[in-house]
Amino acid sequence: MAEKIHRIGVLTGGGDCPGLNAVIRVVTKAAITELGLEVLGVEDGYLGLIRNRMRPLQLDDVSNILTRGGTILGTSNKADPARFVVGNDPQGKPIIEDVRSRVLEHVRDRGLDAIICIGGDGTMSGAAGLIEMGIRCIGVPKTIDNDLLATDLTFGFTTAVQTASECLDRIHTTGASHHRVMIVELMGRNAGWLTLNAGLASGADIMLIPEIPYDLGVVCRVCQERNRRGKRFTLIAVAEGAAPLGGQQVVSKVIADSPDPIRLGGIASVLARDIEQSTGLETRATILGHVQRGGTPVAFDRVLATRFGHKAIQLVAERTWNHVAVWQRGATAAVPIAEVAGRQRLVPPDDPLVAMARAVGTSLGDR
Ligand code: F6P
Repeated sequence: MAEKIHRIGVLTGGGDCPGLNAVIRVVTKAAITELGLEVLGVEDGYLGLIRNRMRPLQLDDVSNILTRGGTILGTSNKADPARFVVGNDPQGKPIIEDVRSRVLEHVRDRGLDAIICIGGDGTMSGAAGLIEMGIRCIGVPKTIDNDLLATDLTFGFTTAVQTASECLDRIHTTGASHHRVMIVELMGRNAGWLTLNAGLASGADIMLIPEIPYDLGVVCRVCQERNRRGKRFTLIAVAEGAAPLGGQQVVSKVIADSPDPIRLGGIASVLARDIEQSTGLETRATILGHVQRGGTPVAFDRVLATRFGHKAIQLVAERTWNHVAVWQRGATAAVPIAEVAGRQRLVPPDDPLVAMARAVGTSLGDR
């Protein structure tokens, strides 16, 4: 006989992405109608657990949210309960405290038997810390970066690829008209998945990703050769985490009170300046930024998010605690949260996508 449970919590942590509401919807509906559970929505990710901000979710609350971007629960990427910034010392340095016992108190007060934590590697780290305190968690993998270990795909990624690819297509036509080098910077943190996929979809001439350091000389040579061949423009897709051989990533911001404080960004402008100086070719830079994270999920992500959320509820039904739902070889599966927490899945240099890019004549800036 399975142990009796009554109530679960659901939270969305880290950067938002399209499809979060689709997960909240299926989790709430299936928990209520199939398992007879009550559901509490935790506000703003782990911040809601720390500050005891939660609200009941009924079927009506999740009606008509499937296609809506963002998250109805709000999110935060500043609140890992094991390393929570409670203020600043007189020198302005953040004071970090472990507030997990406070979370445990709130979880007990609210009668939560388990928490569905929807998020990326940072959220899974947070969940791993709660599991150490005896709080049961189930993970659901989201991120537009697609860099979570053990899952072939995260929801939100396909929508971001679609959005970025549409932007690349638009930049392509204006670049071709003006005979310019057009550089488009995409998100992805330390992983090149988003750039590789969107770049391939839009036929970028050069793709620069963090996993393959680029040589500025090679990038300039490719632009010049294209010009000589009469292709008088070049479309470059660059990942925000890309860096030249022996060089550093460009940091746009350091967020002192975030467990993951570095925000990358700005490489497109640096590259534009360098390419224009070296080649004399007119160059423009565009940073796509958060447009890649907003808006309605594409149909594929709506279904994938629903699959993940449903798997999470199946794990609750089986009492398979402390696992994250993943997508492996075309089906959902579950792996221990501890195995994926805080770990990123990067593009291996011998990934078939890299070989494919080279086969269609796209330069990776390295040779
Ligand atoms: O992890 C998702 C992501 O969009 C990354 O691609 C990007 O580096 C980061 O979040 C941006 O974070 P923020 O929204 O805090 O600026």
